Amino acid sequence: MENKMSLPLQKLLQIFIICLLGFCSASVQDIKTEGNNLNDFQTYIVHVRSYDQLHSTLSDDDLKRWYSSFLSEKTTSPNGGYSSRILHSYRHAFSGFAAKLTAAEVEEMEKKDGFISAMRDKVYTLHTTHTPSFLGLHQNLGFWKDSKYGEGTIIGLLDSGITPGHPSLSDKGMPPPPSKWKGKCDAGITCNNKLIGAKNLVNSSAPPIDDFGHGTHTSSTAAGNFVNNANVFGQANGTAVGIAPRAHVAMYKVCTLIDCEGSVVLAALDAAIEDGVDVISYSLGGGTSTFDDDPLSIGAFSAITKGIFVSTSAGNEGPQNATLSNEAPWVLTTGASSTDRDIRATVVLGDKQEFDGQSMFQPKNFSSQMLPLVYPGVNDEESDASRCVLGSLNNSLVGGNIVICRSGGLMLLSEKAQTVKDAGGAAMILINAEVDGGTTQAEAHVLPASHVSYAYGKKILAYLNSTSKPTATVVFKGTVMGDKTAPAVAQFSARGPNIASPGILKPDIIGPGSSILAAWDSSIDNTNTKSTFNIISGTSMSCPHLSGIAALLKSSHPDWSPATIKSAMMTTAIVVNLNEDPILDEKMLPANVHAIGAGHVNPPKANDPGLVYDIHPDDYIHYLCGLGYTGKQIKKIMNREVNCSDATSIPEAQLNYPSFSIELGHDQKNYTRTVTNVGKAVSTYDLQTISPKGVNIEVNPTQLSFTEMNQKMMYNVTFSRSTSVINFYVEGAIIWSSGHYSVRSPVSIKLL
Ligand SMILES: *[C@@H]1O[C@H](CO)[C@@H](O)[C@H](O)[C@H]1NC(C)=O
Ligand SMILES: *[C@@H]1O[C@H](CO)[C@@H](O)[C@H](O)[C@H]1NC(C)=O
Ligand SMILES: *[C@@H]1O[C@H](CO)[C@@H](O)[C@H](O)[C@H]1NC(C)=O
Ligand SMILES: *[C@@H]1O[C@H](CO)[C@@H](O)[C@H](O)[C@H]1NC(C)=O
Ligand SMILES: *[C@@H]1O[C@H](CO)[C@@H](O)[C@H](O)[C@H]1NC(C)=O
Ligand SMILES: *[C@@H]1O[C@H](CO)[C@@H](O)[C@H](O)[C@H]1NC(C)=O
Ligand SMILES: *[C@@H]1O[C@H](CO)[C@@H](O)[C@H](O)[C@H]1NC(C)=O
Ligand SMILES: *[C@@H]1O[C@H](CO)[C@@H](O)[C@H](O)[C@H]1NC(C)=O
Ligand SMILES: *[C@@H]1O[C@H](CO)[C@@H](O)[C@H](O)[C@H]1NC(C)=O
Repeated sequence: MENKMSLPLQKLLQIFIICLLGFCSASVQDIKTEGNNLNDFQTYIVHVRSYDQLHSTLSDDDLKRWYSSFLSEKTTSPNGGYSSRILHSYRHAFSGFAAKLTAAEVEEMEKKDGFISAMRDKVYTLHTTHTPSFLGLHQNLGFWKDSKYGEGTIIGLLDSGITPGHPSLSDKGMPPPPSKWKGKCDAGITCNNKLIGAKNLVNSSAPPIDDFGHGTHTSSTAAGNFVNNANVFGQANGTAVGIAPRAHVAMYKVCTLIDCEGSVVLAALDAAIEDGVDVISYSLGGGTSTFDDDPLSIGAFSAITKGIFVSTSAGNEGPQNATLSNEAPWVLTTGASSTDRDIRATVVLGDKQEFDGQSMFQPKNFSSQMLPLVYPGVNDEESDASRCVLGSLNNSLVGGNIVICRSGGLMLLSEKAQTVKDAGGAAMILINAEVDGGTTQAEAHVLPASHVSYAYGKKILAYLNSTSKPTATVVFKGTVMGDKTAPAVAQFSARGPNIASPGILKPDIIGPGSSILAAWDSSIDNTNTKSTFNIISGTSMSCPHLSGIAALLKSSHPDWSPATIKSAMMTTAIVVNLNEDPILDEKMLPANVHAIGAGHVNPPKANDPGLVYDIHPDDYIHYLCGLGYTGKQIKKIMNREVNCSDATSIPEAQLNYPSFSIELGHDQKNYTRTVTNVGKAVSTYDLQTISPKGVNIEVNPTQLSFTEMNQKMMYNVTFSRSTSVINFYVEGAIIWSSGHYSVRSPVSIKLL
């Protein structure tokens, strides 16, 4: 039966399915003249020799002609011309192009002079206010004022599009963009002095409108203007504002609801470099990858050589170890943490026990009367009903009751509430699975609900088990500030160690990413809020906080390199919470360096770090050689000839990075670091080390005395072990302190 479909129909269906996935660019004629099956066509990113390094004025047509010369007559269609197969021609971010090709055509191309390599396209996914004051940014005071709220800087976001006309994108008080700006807005989008660029790289025939809110949320987090009385269902009411409210925004739409293609992301990086942005922000990734096989890492490298800061998200695959995206040392990689704001919904049990949880939806007409408490998963914790998977509940069990649902399953938390409501339930208690620990979220549930920690969930289940007529309710307490366990690492925040480069500690830093309020498109109904703001969570949300902070630092220190800005953020990061205890993870245990990197960002301190660890883009040659990359691999990333047997290669951990990640066997390891004085001209720093268990850290010299600004000084570090424990991670820190400054580098050691 399955094979009875007529051939033309089968072909048509294939075309339709592939079009749905955004692969429509090869015309049907191409396919017919080729005699190839459409399935044989794949997007390749083709690396070719630079046309001519000296001709920086090469016209777009010349560039296209050069790239088209790699396509043979056979690979071009009669009506489309040479370039019909080329999807993107790269100029700044990469030497090459993306095209739809068959494997046979790639083989043919390999014979052409100037061809270097071709790789199949990659797929990435998005890593789906109160925060400025939580970060120590206060209106008309200190750093926020001194950095002029990011005035004069441009943040380019690679995301799902934008909602023009949103109040957060108002240009009230915004000057025009700086004259270096070359970008523009695609037809169908009205720009202003806040939103100065908007480009759709996914489909150039459609405006870069945000299909599902993600890009609008990240843009307004980084650089949204002041909006009074912003709230969701009346919660978190206050002035919503981005981190750099005077920075300009440029949106590069690279993602559909399904995914973000590497060839498209690379085209956006190319455009952002051309347009003249100062900061590139992307909250997306695809897990670990060798850097030359990763369009994001390749394009980001080109950006940093132009002095553009690249800010990325660590990913949402936590809390398991070794789950990071964006592991390259030339980007900033940000994990997610909680803030001190709860949208509190307290569970009250029949025996009077109370447990604080969260919910954004807090209906005023809910009476908080005791309701019968039921748990559909009581007999099978692994069942669909235990997780309230859509369609798994029925009215005979849950009708009129308050229903316990467990976190987990491939669904949004708010969908669980919908399941309960559909089956006639009156309210929901969402309890965390063990892996989700203490991370709770304030979501727009469709019925009265509370999301509680694993620890509270266990107590609620014990109560359920202890009585024949269990009852419970939810009492709504609104927005509550001052949670002293903040910042705590969010359960979903991806963790190190770094797979692609074990000698570089990642994530670099953490920032607010749990229950973040920012702009939303009210026409997008997936939260049922109809609000122009929404509260969502993810490292997607923490990344644009750091992008905004990078814009502030760029504004107050226009001469700082991307590596200097990163160093300033990392060496001043905080490692304690509001209780002055070590930052905790979702299990409420002290978080390790693979969860927090250098710690939680502290913008006012980052503005005045004292000393910085700078890295020149050329330093990455030695680093990549040391990492074992071939000249060909390095050329793909750096677009220049490198012969690693001639170039001195260095161990990864010798890169002048503001943190240390060391694998220590029986031989001691020596490294050198160079610090630059950006604090006070005449200043003296003393060494303080926190030695990891079983490891000695010896630093030479132990005092650094500076006499002028921008003076550089070197120090040597020797790591040696005094333990026989193997295959174990330990951590410590190297801190340089003057009376005024404290410059802290975390140290992670793997005992081999
Ligand atoms: C691109 O956008 C145009 C205009 O909205 C639309 O007609 C076309 O189907 C889109 N193409 C793809 C591949 O989605
Ligand atoms: C939000 O706060 C403002 C000012 O304090 C107040 O006027 C407004 O009514 C509040 N809105 C809500 C929905 O609570
Ligand atoms: C992750 O690594 C840490 C050490 O860094 C270790 O203590 C922990 O048990 C590991 N977790 C998992 C889930 O393997
Ligand atoms: C509470 O108000 C909402 C609308 O705001 C309504 O949909 C709901 O039925 C009301 N619930 C009760 C118990 O009255
Ligand atoms: C509803 O759930 C009850 C109790 O688990 C079960 O006995 C019954 O068969 C279910 N009914 C339907 C229609 O699924
Ligand atoms: C419920 O009670 C039974 C019997 O007393 C016990 O075996 C079980 O572990 C209890 N479950 C929970 C979740 O406390
Ligand atoms: C790299 O340099 C070494 C030593 O100078 C030489 O033997 C080798 O051929 C060079 N490799 C390439 C690919 O040029
Ligand atoms: C490392 O440094 C120590 C102390 O400065 C020195 O004694 C030792 O020789 C060095 N080892 C290597 C391999 O350079
Ligand atoms: C650091 O080590 C290098 C190489 O071993 C050595 O040349 C230099 O003198 C050392 N510097 C200090 C300050 O110890």
